[in-house]
Order: sequence, then structure tokens, then C-alpha cells
Amino acid sequence: MNKYVVIGNPVEHSRSPQIHVMFASQAGIKISYRTLLAPHGAFEQTVRSFIEEGGAGANVTVPFKLDAFQIADVKSDRVAHAGAANTLIFSDNKIRADNTDGIGLVRDITQNLSEDLRGKRVLMLGAGGAARGVLLPLVQERPTEIVILNRTVDKARALIDLIAAEAKVFGIETRSGSLTDSVRDFDVVINASSSSLQDAEMPLSMSAIRRGGLAYDMMYGKTESTFFKWAREAGASRKSDGLGMLVEQAAESFFLWQGIRPETSGVIRALRNV
Ligand code: ATR
Repeated sequence: MNKYVVIGNPVEHSRSPQIHVMFASQAGIKISYRTLLAPHGAFEQTVRSFIEEGGAGANVTVPFKLDAFQIADVKSDRVAHAGAANTLIFSDNKIRADNTDGIGLVRDITQNLSEDLRGKRVLMLGAGGAARGVLLPLVQERPTEIVILNRTVDKARALIDLIAAEAKVFGIETRSGSLTDSVRDFDVVINASSSSLQDAEMPLSMSAIRRGGLAYDMMYGKTESTFFKWAREAGASRKSDGLGMLVEQAAESFFLWQGIRPETSGVIRALRNV
């Protein structure tokens, strides 16, 4: 039986084991998948012990996505661009790394929420690891504009610089915005910052999203986030948390490990009902 883990700290709250077990049962294969707590500063050691136990692959979550990038022998383009990995594949005595977060976000928005990003104006809040991990796949959907807002403006600028070459290929306008009224009427606003975890106020005017726009929170939780509170007050007609993204990134990891693409809508529904 192939053995998998999700490695993080903390990690016991992770829903990945539940998701992967549902995928495996759909595919009619047997896997074991559990959470694995890595002590801070001991990520690599934890991974290598798991490989010695016969581990076939791992998902990596906060705060180790950068470490996962660093220990990989082989990196996919997505990983090289994001500078972070969330999926590891152990084979031929090598650690291969991939990043499925961006494709997970894009699939949730374009397929599950039926929002075609082509020609749209996208506003992204946050410029940390989560934002960086999803930018290239977003650019590849060819919106007309991507603006990144962040508390630390230099980090937003650095991210824009990182995607400038790719965005140019598609003719996408990119900029790091300031918190002024010129940031308005976006079709899609994505929260990739962790500010709502600390209940910080959203630094956005009510006109930042257009009527009928989509407010997407990459975080998910049971209580209304400050981002959703802002979206509700701003009159966004559609809101989504990151549960669909979580399932879609897991589906892409499952595909990398098993070569089988699981059906996701039933799994998303099952998780919503828990
Ligand atoms: P992650 O990997 O989850 O993105 P991170 O790299 O620490 O974590 O980035 C967190 C993001 O949330 C950053 O964009 C951060 O802004 P700074 O770059 O200015 O630090 C943003 N963030 C976190 N707490 C915030 C707060 N209270 N108000 C505004 N932004 C916040």
C-alpha cells in the first residue's frame, strides 16, 4: 500500500487525509495518508525518515513550503517560479517537487465557480508565499490586469517584477496599487493575505469590487472573515472561500502521484456538509 503524509506545523487540523482517502476510494485503490508533524527546523530530517519508512509522497503545508523547495532534487517549472512546493514525490532515490496551489485556485475559480478570468481585472491582496504560489497560473488565464495590494508595498512590487516578463507575453497590465480610490471596480478580488486570521480590517474601499464581482478568500474557516464582511458590505454578489481550492490542489497532487484525475465536486460537497 502506498504511504503518503501531509507535513506541517501545526498539521492536525488538516483536511488533506480525508480528501485523499475519498479520492482513493473513488479510484478503487488503497493508500494510507496521515498527518505528520515536523518540528520547526527539522523538516528535512522528518522527510528523510518518512522516505526510509517507504513513503511514496507528501503534501507540504505551512510553514514548510519553502523548505520543500530547497530540499528538492528535481523541481517543476511551477515550483521554480513559485519558489515554494506543496507536493513531493519520492522515487528513484530522488525528491521531486511540484506546486499545485495555483492550478487549484484557477480550477476552482474557472470550473467550479464558472468565472472565466480571460479579459478580467483581478485584484490580489497579500504578497507572501500564498500569493506568490498562485500568480503564474493566474497570469496564464490572461486577465487584462493584475494589481497586487500589500501592507508592505515593496513586497508587492517584488512580486509584480517576478511575473512582469510572463505578463508581458500575454499583454497583461500589472501594478502594485496604493490604497486609493483608483483601485476600483475589479471583477475578481482574491484575498491571499493572512490578515483576516488576525481579524485585521480590510484596507479596501467599498468600490474596489464591481457589482456582480467575485470575492475569493484563499483561507477557509467557519466564522465570517473580515474579508467576507468587507465583500458583503461592498455588495459583491458572489463570495467563495478556499475549500474548493484545497480540494482542487489535492486532486492535482493525487494526479501527480497516481496518474488518475479524481472527480472533485462530490468531495467538495461532502466536506461542506461536515
Ligand atoms: P503566506 O505564506 O500565508 O502568504 P506570509 O508569507 O507570512 O504567509 O504572508 C502573509 C501575507 O499576509 C503578507 O502579504 C502579509 O503582509 P506583509 O507582507 O506586509 O507582511 C499579509 N498580512 C499578514 N498579517 C497582516 C495584517 N495584520 N494586515 C495586513 N496584511 C497582513
